[in-house]
Amino acid sequence: MAATTRPASSRTRGAAPHGGIRRIAINTGGGDAPGLNAVIRSVVLCALNRGWDVVGIRDGYNGLLEKDAYESGGLRRMTRDTVRGITHLGGTILGTTNKGNPLHYPVQKKDGTWIEVDRSDEILRAFARHRIDALVAIGGDGSLSIANEFAKKGLRVIGVPKTIDNDLDGTVVTFGFDSAVSFATECLDRLHSTAQAHGRIMVVEVMGRYAGWIALSAGVAGTADVILMPEIPYDIEKVAAKTIARVKTGRKFSIIVVAEGAMPIDGARSIIGKNIGQAERLGGAAERIAKQLEQMTGQEARHVVLGHLQRGGSPTNNDRLLSLRFGAAAVRALDAGQTGMMVALDPPTVRYVPLAKATKRMKVVPLDCDTVLAARDLGISFGD
Ligand code: F6P
Repeated sequence: MAATTRPASSRTRGAAPHGGIRRIAINTGGGDAPGLNAVIRSVVLCALNRGWDVVGIRDGYNGLLEKDAYESGGLRRMTRDTVRGITHLGGTILGTTNKGNPLHYPVQKKDGTWIEVDRSDEILRAFARHRIDALVAIGGDGSLSIANEFAKKGLRVIGVPKTIDNDLDGTVVTFGFDSAVSFATECLDRLHSTAQAHGRIMVVEVMGRYAGWIALSAGVAGTADVILMPEIPYDIEKVAAKTIARVKTGRKFSIIVVAEGAMPIDGARSIIGKNIGQAERLGGAAERIAKQLEQMTGQEARHVVLGHLQRGGSPTNNDRLLSLRFGAAAVRALDAGQTGMMVALDPPTVRYVPLAKATKRMKVVPLDCDTVLAARDLGISFGD
């Protein structure tokens, strides 16, 4: 982010124009998701239209911790120009991080060991010093839990639910999910033809952490033969039986979608590792299953990991619209004097739920939801 000048009105403050607010900040935290820039644009324009100043914080809260934050670019004044032409762009113009949780900030000691320190009061002082009256925090469960802690400490905060995983409670859907599912579905379409040509089993790993929303939605839309997700521990014997049965009826290939957090009935989920201050990293589920199936069935099996491709690129039109609606609703909430709330989709409208409620538990796929029932009726196996 380029270094920008300090907002002029930080020196001269007249009467607050709307909702007792003169200046708001906006930040993006956690893993990126398509639609972040559309939310940023929406928040900035809706706030400027109310006569508020807007500043963007770089990399979650990290920009606020920088000395001379405007000069270093840690804080950036947001204008119409800074948000022009960004609605369709992936990533986030503010930058993001899934490391620097200010409540458990990782600091390396002289002896090389790491400790976590609480820097939240430092952040609150920075908000006050920069005369920021409120924050729009765009993030997933981690970032919105942090936002909720700041709300409890007295900061005016509205959250906007982001994650491709769709695992945030209180909203029917998070922005970013539709784009990830669209991309994964297109990949399944492409993998069908090559799987069919070679008579192979293709095992496709999708993201989603401990929830199977992406695997389920893309798997059904992309007509997978097997969907494996964290909510339904799988029996590899049943997965093998499904692919063998398909061969017997002349369909020599199978498409298996596996969520990164899926686990066998008699084992654990596949984990790559865990770094200090970070969540555990999932990975390797598809490779493990492909190897097992090759041995068990004698069929050739390949694995494909869609990985961060699911997070990149432009948001779908659904995600763009949702992001713009969420951004506008967040500003309306601040204008109405709300705090500690998250905007949430409750079709056909956008409503507000307490951040505390939205971040209390993870939203996983209910086993009796109609998409699971439809999949079973269509003959898709869950390996159970
Ligand atoms: O939460 C979004 C997500 O993309 C998960 O689906 C995935 O497990 C994780 O983030 C990967 O995060 P990182 O950016 O650390 O690789």
